[in-house]
Amino acid sequence: MNFRQDFPIFITNPNLVYLDSAATSQKPKVVLEALRYYYENENANIHRSAHFLAEKATVAYEATRQTVADFIGAKHKHEIIFTRNATESINLVARSWGETFLKAGDEVLLSKLEHHSNLIPWLQLKEKIGIEIKYLDIDESGQLIFDESQITEKTKLVSLTGMSNSLGVITHLKPIITKAHEVGAKVLIDACQMAVHSPIDVQELDADFLVFSAHKLYGPTGVGVLYGKSDLLEKMPPFLGGGEMIQQVFEDRFIAGDIPNKFEAGTPNIAGVTAFKAAIEYLNSVGFETIQKQEKALTEYALEKLKALPYLKLIGPQGMKNRGSIISFTIDGVHPHDIAEGLSQKQICIRAGHHCTQPLMDYLELPATARASFAFYNEVEEVDKLVKGLEEVYEYFNQ
Ligand SMILES: Cc1ncc(COP(=O)(O)O)c(C=O)c1O
Repeated sequence: MNFRQDFPIFITNPNLVYLDSAATSQKPKVVLEALRYYYENENANIHRSAHFLAEKATVAYEATRQTVADFIGAKHKHEIIFTRNATESINLVARSWGETFLKAGDEVLLSKLEHHSNLIPWLQLKEKIGIEIKYLDIDESGQLIFDESQITEKTKLVSLTGMSNSLGVITHLKPIITKAHEVGAKVLIDACQMAVHSPIDVQELDADFLVFSAHKLYGPTGVGVLYGKSDLLEKMPPFLGGGEMIQQVFEDRFIAGDIPNKFEAGTPNIAGVTAFKAAIEYLNSVGFETIQKQEKALTEYALEKLKALPYLKLIGPQGMKNRGSIISFTIDGVHPHDIAEGLSQKQICIRAGHHCTQPLMDYLELPATARASFAFYNEVEEVDKLVKGLEEVYEYFNQ
């Protein structure tokens, strides 16, 4: 099946080789149409006015909440909070739940794989209230090394990625979640990468919080999701204050509204949220079975071709085991930024840098890596172009 025709960017840029979907995915036509439809037919502020247009906009916005709840198997749609992005979702948990329920000396367990978004909010809390931050180690393939003794009575939160954006490792979460709950700790899953490649069932996973961004999931930028179990969200104070999040306001105090509104202060990204529904419906219509099959085939093929380049070193998993469609690598004598720049001249887009995981790069003793990431709309010919491009870049820098 050729999915490229569903994505206008490949029509306007016929030679584009886009291998940076882990940073943000391209958007299918149905999502662009949904954005346009909203502004042309339904544009009004939600929840506030009694007029028919506001009612239409509100219905469209709230419909996405149900679609997202179904997409991740949430029990209730009010357990879905819309934010600006996954980063804001984690900050919301750190500021609202963390500042309320954590105290000096309490431990938050992260891993060496975490994106800065799942690191800085906890470091801020360390500065502010004196929590301790511990890290799960990783083995040579990048997989988490889980030692039960790292979760103790002092552990109050375990916050982990479901798939590393830097190395592509799919982490083993279940035993860690089980142990965390045994000691009464809460669990936050950073599903930014995971949500794009595999179905999620938050109830089966038993995550207390789970976050992801719409823009990596074929949806618009400016929309993030925070899933939280309702009993937790209900006990948490609002993160931002303003319109929409209140029940009643007096000169000297306010009474916060119920979830989810309590956490959605101000006018949200109504168009973006509305169009996110189209993205999930599109993804569901393609189906994870097809997505996984195509992404696995591309990754397997790319690994085989890249391994044949003697000057290229794969960083992270060496094979397909526990790996998603992200491949990190370095090339002898060529800085990753030069690799990306050289490829860009051939219209091949990859990512180079620390991938917002500086502590991981320090741990691996690397300044940066080059990273190619595949989505189901990519094709084998694009892998061939990548490999040819890498050969040319290597020759250019080593002649
Ligand atoms: C694993 C992971 N976590 C968090 C983020 C942050 O996502 P956003 O910038 O959309 O908030 C990213 C984005 O690259 C990511 O890959």
